[in-house]
Amino acid sequence: MDALEALRTRRSVRQYDTERGVADADLETLVDCARLAASARNAQPWEFVVVRDAATRAELARVATNGSFIADAPACIAVFCRKSDYFLEDGCAATQNLLVAARALGLGSCWVAGHRKPYADTVRKILGAPDDMLLISLVAVGYPLAVPSPVKRPLADVLHWEKF
Ligand SMILES: Cc1cc2nc3c(=O)[nH]c(=O)nc-3n(C[C@H](O)[C@H](O)[C@H](O)COP(=O)(O)O)c2cc1C
Repeated sequence: MDALEALRTRRSVRQYDTERGVADADLETLVDCARLAASARNAQPWEFVVVRDAATRAELARVATNGSFIADAPACIAVFCRKSDYFLEDGCAATQNLLVAARALGLGSCWVAGHRKPYADTVRKILGAPDDMLLISLVAVGYPLAVPSPVKRPLADVLHWEKF
């Protein structure tokens, strides 16, 4: 699958095949693509924690509002950044790379909010990340059981040539 197809067909997957694990090599590929994301002044302020352990995922699923499916996804990748001028943009760019790379590998994924969430610090502690790490996102990863089709605004509605 090429990059354009991955970008066009990626959707947030919240139902996973619990019988089918994700290969460590694929999880490594996802993080490799994430760490190559654009970052302001090439700061690369990110760190990634790959969680496969079911008990830890269950804990994350319990604390992360709207992330209950993390318990069923075979893996969850937590994206942290250390504070810098553009850490949020940088961390979001890395997160989006994770999602698109997952699609390219035939995996489903879903971005679960992290930054500014009341549970951000709890997640940091669960995962043993240092105090200066800010949670950006939790990304559930696994083989999809169902892929939703949310309505997208048409190109003609959002594209403005030369002026708004
Ligand atoms: C910053 C951000 C936070 C999100 N947080 C959650 C979340 O906590 N739980 C969830 O199920 N989906 C979450 N999503 C996924 C969105 O709901 C999803 O991207 C949106 O509905 C569009 O669907 P699509 O990703 O399939 O195109 C989040 C997405 C973004 C960008």
